[in-house]
Amino acid sequence: MQQQWAEIDHYIESHLIPDDPILKQTLAYTDEQGLPDHLAVAANQGMLLQMLIQMNQVKRVLELGTFAAYSTLWLARALPDDGYILTIEGREAHANIGRENIVRAQLKPQIDLRVGPARDILLALPENTPAFDFIFIDADKQSYPEYLELCLKYCHSGSIIVLDNVVRAGDIIDPDNHKPSIEGLRTLFSTLQNHPQILSCTALQTVGSKGHDGFAIAIVK
Ligand code: DHB
Ligand code: MG
Repeated sequence: MQQQWAEIDHYIESHLIPDDPILKQTLAYTDEQGLPDHLAVAANQGMLLQMLIQMNQVKRVLELGTFAAYSTLWLARALPDDGYILTIEGREAHANIGRENIVRAQLKPQIDLRVGPARDILLALPENTPAFDFIFIDADKQSYPEYLELCLKYCHSGSIIVLDNVVRAGDIIDPDNHKPSIEGLRTLFSTLQNHPQILSCTALQTVGSKGHDGFAIAIVK
């Protein structure tokens, strides 16, 4: 099935995803630097992130897990010129490529890339940090439950939180899989269930060029 999923993604992308030189250059530079491309969002998922931002008049974005900044640039493209993204990457090597991709893109919204453990960076944000309108959590899966709680401190009513890779080809329902990342995702689902600060939440499975996975989306009460 993988080949057909990839071909269908290609079909969708060739019709509906604009041929953007900045995004193309980002993927090419990331590939040249030898980084794996399966960690980046698919183009049709990047477009969904863009649309969620456009639908909700988002100005301030928080991203956990910059990787090579491909998703960051999808997010930034959707923002007004005075928009702001705080994007956090834990791995220096990835952040270096991400920084280069951000500089080359020359987009108007401010992209503030910080390197280090997301937990520490979030905990060190000043008390008066304005809330984020949109949060994309795409970092180490084992920490998602903790990231969710930390992020909720910087949300307002109506903030949207998207969490990437919450299905992992079905590993979340495999009773024999006890990897920390998978246990982290199970804890995430339990945390989202009846969370007092979440208005509504769902998760959707995806198949495509990046295999079988899924994302969760939540609206803050
Ligand atoms: C992995 C991480 C991601 O964020 C992703 O989108 C795909 C794969 C990974 O760690 O394998
Ligand atoms: Mg991801």
